Amino acid sequence: MKVLIVGGGGREHAIAWKVSKSPLVDKIYCAPGNAGIAQIAECVSIGAMEFDALADFAQTHDVDLTVVGMDDPLCGGIVDVFEKRGLRVFGPRADAAIIEGSKAFTKDLLKKYHIPTAAYETFDDPQKALTYLQTAKMPIVLKADGLALGKGVLICNTLQEAMDGVKEIMQDRKFGAAGNRMVIEEFMTGREVSVLCFSDGKTVVPMTSAQDHKRAGDGDTGLNTGGMGTFSPSPFYTDEINDWCMEHIYQPTIDAMRQEGREFKGILFAGLMLTDEGPKVLEFNARFGDPETQVVLPRMKSDLVEMFEACIDGTLDQKKLEFEDNAAVCVVLASDGYPVSYEKGFVISGFDKFHEDEGYYCFHAGTKKTDKGIVTNGGRVLGVTAKGPDLLSARANAYKAAQWIDFKNKYMRHDIGRAIDEA
Ligand code: AMP
Ligand code: GLY
Repeated sequence: MKVLIVGGGGREHAIAWKVSKSPLVDKIYCAPGNAGIAQIAECVSIGAMEFDALADFAQTHDVDLTVVGMDDPLCGGIVDVFEKRGLRVFGPRADAAIIEGSKAFTKDLLKKYHIPTAAYETFDDPQKALTYLQTAKMPIVLKADGLALGKGVLICNTLQEAMDGVKEIMQDRKFGAAGNRMVIEEFMTGREVSVLCFSDGKTVVPMTSAQDHKRAGDGDTGLNTGGMGTFSPSPFYTDEINDWCMEHIYQPTIDAMRQEGREFKGILFAGLMLTDEGPKVLEFNARFGDPETQVVLPRMKSDLVEMFEACIDGTLDQKKLEFEDNAAVCVVLASDGYPVSYEKGFVISGFDKFHEDEGYYCFHAGTKKTDKGIVTNGGRVLGVTAKGPDLLSARANAYKAAQWIDFKNKYMRHDIGRAIDEA
């Protein structure tokens, strides 16, 4: 079969790589893709928001299955456009992707169905938000309602910071229209974990767990980024916790969405905080995580395309999902200055040292092929993933492999997986 993947980051490279392992697949297209994806797929220069052009391409090239990696097209209704044209597509429709697209929607859903999450209030008037803050307990968390590249969340330690935050989000519109509404919620403490789940709208099947590192600097300092590195599995997310989350979070959420007439088919990404009172939902996303995917998929034994098909066909209850009994760590190599400003166009060397049969993977995020070779073309440039029998050896392998790659202004965190030492 022919598969079209929509997106062009490290997550889509990992998805394309895993799709390429399926015996069901003989051709992969990716729109728009990147220089790494181009080594295993035919990249087509159609933007992820050009729904009609993508659907035209899928139709004229006899694409059997389209997989959408990114949040913007999902929230914008790409799946609805494809389905209306009779094209097979993996991902939630817009009315279900709202679970990522609106934090206020999701908080209301969780409250209505008694699914554990931080206490909160929603505001569309900045004056009311400011009044509420006067008596609120600090620290407190401010969240722009809409999509903000994972950056629309402010953790405020003082009343002054929180008041400035309301101004940034709702008045200065730092995150654009995402700040028309705002959620103010209780600050939670605990271990964070990301769990990606397959769902066909009725059945939900969690994958192995992972943990991201969102801040730019070592020791979780600096600005929030798209993610600077991951490890899998999380040693804190035990089988017992997984069972508890199945019963109290994942299945109730999928059931709630169905009851609301918003059947959720696709990847439900649960961002959880493991608090003293038990796991609570930080956020949901409607897609694979980036860079969680880069540590989860290399450990997956099952055929990813079969899982996609089962989600679309509503037969997920008949599928068994299996992972290797090992660990993986991904270190993101970024351009110095990310996430604020950075230069592009530097030649990258060292790719030839990566051999996946030895457990080393180099997933491309922001790269481009030129006459000079493959060059940097974004803030996050590469995701270097290594496997190992356990987290400690996977981490050592990943940092060894991160040295194989060289480019000007290369930047990385040096403490990805430091939680492993505390486990
Ligand atoms: P989100 O995009 O909602 O996952 O938020 C981004 C990051 O902000 C999360 O990964 C957490 O580290 C932090 N965060 C969000 N909500 C809370 C909360 N209620 N308490 C503590 N930290 C939070
Ligand atoms: N790694 C976090 C995300 O994909 O949103």
